[in-house]
Amino acid sequence: DYFWFFVAVLSYLAGSIPFGLVTARLVAGTDIRKVGSGNIGATNVARTLGAKWGIVVLVLDALKGLLPVLFIPALFVSPDSPDFDHARVLSGIATIVGHMFPVWLGFRGGKGVATSLGVILVLGPWSTLAAVGAFALTFFVSRIVALSSIVAALAFGIAQFVQLGSAAFTREKWSLTAFSIAVPLLIIIRHRSNLGRIMRGEEKKFQFGSRNKE
Ligand code: G3P
Repeated sequence: DYFWFFVAVLSYLAGSIPFGLVTARLVAGTDIRKVGSGNIGATNVARTLGAKWGIVVLVLDALKGLLPVLFIPALFVSPDSPDFDHARVLSGIATIVGHMFPVWLGFRGGKGVATSLGVILVLGPWSTLAAVGAFALTFFVSRIVALSSIVAALAFGIAQFVQLGSAAFTREKWSLTAFSIAVPLLIIIRHRSNLGRIMRGEEKKFQFGSRNKE
């Protein structure tokens, strides 16, 4: 059953493409790791280069979560197989881990919010709605992206458990259950520097950068 290995490695490699880093370098010749929060994600690109490039990176990072889950497992496993759903979950988690810990950047990658959005659109569309709603509400109140991401991650996990109910602990759904715990946990851990600043009241409210505004 070598296919598990191929699903994991191919998905990891897709996830590890640092679109934020590449975009900032191409557009402005900037090393995104040296400006703003130092993160390679859409938020820091928007903060540094403006809304337009932030949206580009958000879409690219979300697509690199969505497309592997849609297409990589299907290369190896029939959709009728009981392994199919597990292979999709493996693909999703590997993609997110690829973004967070890319081999190309010495395993120092991003916080996984946009990539996870792409993955959960496939693996948990209803819970994605809850997560996006929680994000929007938190951002509306606080104007802090990191806090909104953390609340969204928690909302996703809770919505998954509500939806799975007792099925969460069945043989068919165990991998999705593990995913629904692991992804919010990983996202929160990756926000630990933000969490520290939030607790100290030092996390800045979000503002678009002006360097590329017309
Ligand atoms: O996209 C990650 C976001 O939640 C926080 O990013 O740059 O404000 O640390 P940043």
